Amino acid sequence: MNLPLNISALSLPLPTASPQFIDLYRPGTDAQAGQATAQELADGLTAPAASVSPKFFYNELGSKLFEAITGLDEYYPTRTEAGIFEAAHADIADTLAAAGITRPCLIDLGAGNCAKAMTLIPHLQPRQYVPVDISVEFLRDAAEQVQNSFPALDIVGVGMDFSAGLALPDEVQAYERVFFYPGSSLGNFHPAQALQFLKHIADPAQGKARGLLMGIDLVKDTARLEAAYDDALGVTGAFNKNLLLNVNDLLGSDFDVRQWRHVALFNVAESRIEMHLEAMQELTVRWPGHARNFMAGERIHTECSYKYTVDGMTALLRQAGFKHIEYWTDPDSWFAVFWAAV
Ligand code: AVI
Repeated sequence: MNLPLNISALSLPLPTASPQFIDLYRPGTDAQAGQATAQELADGLTAPAASVSPKFFYNELGSKLFEAITGLDEYYPTRTEAGIFEAAHADIADTLAAAGITRPCLIDLGAGNCAKAMTLIPHLQPRQYVPVDISVEFLRDAAEQVQNSFPALDIVGVGMDFSAGLALPDEVQAYERVFFYPGSSLGNFHPAQALQFLKHIADPAQGKARGLLMGIDLVKDTARLEAAYDDALGVTGAFNKNLLLNVNDLLGSDFDVRQWRHVALFNVAESRIEMHLEAMQELTVRWPGHARNFMAGERIHTECSYKYTVDGMTALLRQAGFKHIEYWTDPDSWFAVFWAAV
């Protein structure tokens, strides 16, 4: 038989390597981890001032809702930070090169869709890229996409809750490490926890860390801040309420999202946006072995997003032990990108 020559088959690109992926996050998949998560949630929900950690925003739907938030008009941090990176990429690469850092291992903390690292990779040319996130399935897909864009890059995706510690698996090579923490995620820690976290990265005993490239949101007028966390479309409200659905899955509780209202306010004294869920009527939430009554108007505190000044963040980085600090801002000084060298 005379087979026709299939030109398009010959010109197909070679299949790209898949990224390695190590999943260390198991909130509910084995009995022990499930119990620890349930205990953490129950402790927060039964406290006189109820709270749930913001890490419980990020199930698969939560990660998608967060991605949608980053595209909203009101949510200026993502595009402002992207603008700073775009303007300063070459400068940032030069700064690292001047510090003798070439082809590091780039560890992307809270990588999400990896979009920010994708713009940085061509400039930093890392030897290995390590996206880390608690939202495991979302990260798995994102790491595949990075691999498609950079077929030769050595990628090790790590699913883990790094707020509990930064012990990276052995697959992460012993190259010089640059930690990348964009998006103002440090602002979701209380300042004392943020200091501990920064100290951990700067700790010389860690040996391989050369520095931290971090984006942080800056203090600005209350109206702009509150609009960023209470958008007209209600995407941030859905993101906040989705936490209750995640809690239902993990704890076996019976939260009804229709009974809760999204609240976002800027606490000037604490320099932080607070997000809460407010009960719109008196209600009872039940889960195995427990029940909690909420009065109408009672709140569950779900997130703090601290806003810093450049001086405040510089002082915190110095206190954490970083030796050399540089920063870049946008023309309105709404957001800052810091390079802090160990
Ligand atoms: C992930 N983190 C930096 C976001 C923030 O702005 O604090 C989370 C967020 N919460 C509501 N909108 C966005």
